[in-house]
Amino acid sequence: MNQHILIIDYGSQFTQLIARRIRELGVYAEVIHNNIDKEFINNKIDVGLKGIILSGSHESIDNNDHDTLKKFILEIGIPVLGICYGMQLMANQLGGQVSLSTNREYGEVELIISSPSKLLDGIQVIKNNDDVNILKVLMSHGDTVTKLPDGFKKIAYTNSCPIAGMEDSNRNLYGLQFHPEVTHTILGNKILKRFVKNICQCESNWSMPNYIENTISRIKSEVGDDKVILGLSGGVDSSVAAILIHKAIGEKLTCVFVDHGCMRLNEKKQVEKMFSSYHINIIYKDASDLFFQKLSGIIDPEEKRKIIGAEFINVFQSEANKLGNIKWLAQGTIYPDVIESSNAKNGSSKVIKSHHNVGGLPEKMNLKLLEPLKYLFKDEVRKIGLELGISPEMIFRHPFPGPGLAVRIIGEVKPEFVKILQGADNIFIQELRNNLNQLTGKSWYDSVSQAFAVFLPIKSVGVMGDHRTYEYVIVLRAVNTLDFMTANWSKIPDDLLSKISSRIINEIPGVNRVVYDISNKPPATIEWE
Ligand code: XMP
Repeated sequence: MNQHILIIDYGSQFTQLIARRIRELGVYAEVIHNNIDKEFINNKIDVGLKGIILSGSHESIDNNDHDTLKKFILEIGIPVLGICYGMQLMANQLGGQVSLSTNREYGEVELIISSPSKLLDGIQVIKNNDDVNILKVLMSHGDTVTKLPDGFKKIAYTNSCPIAGMEDSNRNLYGLQFHPEVTHTILGNKILKRFVKNICQCESNWSMPNYIENTISRIKSEVGDDKVILGLSGGVDSSVAAILIHKAIGEKLTCVFVDHGCMRLNEKKQVEKMFSSYHINIIYKDASDLFFQKLSGIIDPEEKRKIIGAEFINVFQSEANKLGNIKWLAQGTIYPDVIESSNAKNGSSKVIKSHHNVGGLPEKMNLKLLEPLKYLFKDEVRKIGLELGISPEMIFRHPFPGPGLAVRIIGEVKPEFVKILQGADNIFIQELRNNLNQLTGKSWYDSVSQAFAVFLPIKSVGVMGDHRTYEYVIVLRAVNTLDFMTANWSKIPDDLLSKISSRIINEIPGVNRVVYDISNKPPATIEWE
């Protein structure tokens, strides 16, 4: 493995962002849980580990069962940077003092640089009115370090945080109370660059063309002459995985596209078009009747998800059996899935909705797993997709949930509801694609992170011409988000909403009312079920 950085995750919402920022510097960064031992780190050092970052956390050092920092990490001789809670753990472990503050400091604040340091020197600070060097940073903490451990010096402070940065350059240990990984910290990327490039001395060799080349040769040697099957959803991840694997093993890959009846309008056609030039074996299986039958009478969202997940596995398995002698199951798993399932295993996250995937398959069919994207973030997968020639329109499509429109039809799923929803959703998306957002200079589709329509199985009274109508309601939902963990509803202009609403009511029989969802996440989720 190449030179890289390890990020020890204590559960901060920003942990993945640290890894993404470092990878943007061309250096590979990996997120791991705290349950590691010295041998693990030593093995990593043998294959190029150059530095460690301790993430933030929602925990407090004051809490008796808070996560601890293993001392060997600070003694192993490679640079360590503690961010927020990570800095507090470091101070606490080395004999400093951390105090609970009743005032949680949250938001953008002015950081005052108090002395020269290896970590912050060379960052282009600005001078405030008193001619003091300051940086705008994002703080999000309750506890603070109130006494430095021996050997450390204070490098920065804020009005309400007496020690906001510390370093012991002899031992190569550094701490920042603020978050350099978020964009609110202006020049935060320069600080991470100083740590990764100047202090850890990593070279930039993490690039997508390299990744494609290495992955293709790895797949070739791992898979050999075996046959591989892949569940193709039409989404970015499974599509990029399919093309990458096909480049490595050609005909030995077969993809199965299962239509569960709850896809977007013309989804099969779009997928056929996307793959038309690649000559990949694809089996299109229309199983919609079976899914509708199984979903009949089911109104509970979790039950719907489970039925779709289980039936998907059955259909997929029967297609795989027809092919015979398959050894590998390929999946478009990406890095956030890996981190989240590891967090779930380690008990540091709660399941809000059970996401549909083909998780049960490998054991059931005795298959080996091939996951060529499992070290990549979404933006990296997109870069690979573009390199491999997939059209930007498909690569930048909004995410679509595995259970599809079944979780956008509230209550029971019926074919006639799917038809209404597909039509309404298609109009919404068409209009977002065709209208420019003057502020961003991009289409409205590319200016929001996710947009879709939802079907409500309730009827309301309306009037069309001289007639009373009594028809269904369509909800429009559009959100802006960076990580889909939190999201704000998108401020789509009234005249565009108005146009979309009249088109839906005029063109889609069965709908006489359209409403716009103005709930943020949290407390609402992005999907309605
Ligand atoms: P929520 O509704 O949890 O959605 O705020 C966050 C993101 O996850 C997507 N989502 C799913 N994706 N299977 C998926 O593959 C699912 O069951 C599922 N449920 C939600 C959702 O579209 C949004 O992007």
